[in-house]
Amino acid sequence: MVIFLIACASPEPDASGSSPAPRPPVDASVALKQPAEAEDLDPAPGSLWVELEAAPLDFGVGEEEVRGYAYNGQVPGPTLRATVGDTIVVDFTNRLEVPTTIHWHGLQVPADMDGVTWLLDPLQPGESFRYTFVPSQAGTFWYHPHVDVDQQVDLGLYGALIVEDPAEPVADRDLVLVWDSWGEQAAATSEHSSPDPASLRWTVNGQLQPVLSMNSGERLRLRMLNVSNLGYLDLRWADMRQIAADQGLLSEMLQPDALLLAPGDRAEFEWLAGGDQEIQTGRYTASGGVAIGDPLPLMSVEVEGSEESAAPLSWPHSGLLPSIDSGSPQVVYVFSGGATDEPWLINGESYPDVTVESLPLNQEAILELRNLSATEHPFHMHGHHFELLSVDGVAPTVRQIEDTINVGIRQVVRIKVLASNPGDWMLHCHLLEHEEGGMMAVLRVE
Ligand code: C2O
Ligand code: CU
Repeated sequence: MVIFLIACASPEPDASGSSPAPRPPVDASVALKQPAEAEDLDPAPGSLWVELEAAPLDFGVGEEEVRGYAYNGQVPGPTLRATVGDTIVVDFTNRLEVPTTIHWHGLQVPADMDGVTWLLDPLQPGESFRYTFVPSQAGTFWYHPHVDVDQQVDLGLYGALIVEDPAEPVADRDLVLVWDSWGEQAAATSEHSSPDPASLRWTVNGQLQPVLSMNSGERLRLRMLNVSNLGYLDLRWADMRQIAADQGLLSEMLQPDALLLAPGDRAEFEWLAGGDQEIQTGRYTASGGVAIGDPLPLMSVEVEGSEESAAPLSWPHSGLLPSIDSGSPQVVYVFSGGATDEPWLINGESYPDVTVESLPLNQEAILELRNLSATEHPFHMHGHHFELLSVDGVAPTVRQIEDTINVGIRQVVRIKVLASNPGDWMLHCHLLEHEEGGMMAVLRVE
């Protein structure tokens, strides 16, 4: 199946570069938009108070009409912008015809604010609920339902939640880029297979291949999040300057040639105006990495005026080294399953029939993630963040704090978690069809 997928990901005769992939025409008039920000009903400093409503919405993705769902009538939903230590209050009303909740992906919220359904029942149509929590960590987070999550996120329920740190420099523009892919079901060859990357259509902030216009000398902060159910982005452009991962600034800036953004993942970049560029993705699939074929265009960046690169900002990277990966793990999670007619499994079990593992409150624990299945899985843990210790025994070059980490086929990934937030926490694969297909477990912190 893997070979077949790779073959069909590359309809072009060969990979010699002599026959570039057909590129859909870019409409240069499509200027990149920002999702409208939620209005703060209490403009006093120290708080953010917003109203969110989930309701059905018909919207267009290029030519295609989607009978979807939206928060406050927009896809992506409104961006929530707060500062570390603010009290965030979200008055949420469900105007869908089905039950829903909101989960605050990546934030260490109290267990009864997490949007999972074992402490609080999901909100029925017409019901309201006040979510309130205080973000302790700066970074780029997001929110989405945690009921029928594969359906509801796919239909348009997601938005960005940005937590700012006043100690960080202010870029000329601080932009959110929410990536979603469309046509996953049609692009998959069978129920459990990965979509063919060449037939996914990627939108950024709901737009197909928009253009970001910059002035010469401008310095941007780009906050990217992948909200796709199944689509991986293997981002590429020249002079990539990654300043942050899921949970705020890295300990040093990274300048990779490409960056994998799995579903649920975030990354932040500094973008210094230079020449025009195209942002592209490699043809990455969860069932085998980058397939043969030219990278696919996602959006372009055009600079007015001088091509001389703007000067970098000075980000307060900590300079800390990654923690040493030593000792045996307190918990091991093995991912398997997913063959035809088989559920997706963690430690041989399929949610909800799972063994609850526990950690004492405030214990620092190593979790080992082992992937024995034939596809990759982005592992996500609720209520906590973690440090990446190693991938197949190799430590990262900088200290990186995450809440979602991709585990490749046959890989062993080790992470360090401080069990600081009491409650029963979900952890699951963020390929949403896998999550709904049982690839979810529960870790108790008590
Ligand atoms: Cu964004 Cu339980 O997930
Ligand atoms: Cu998975």
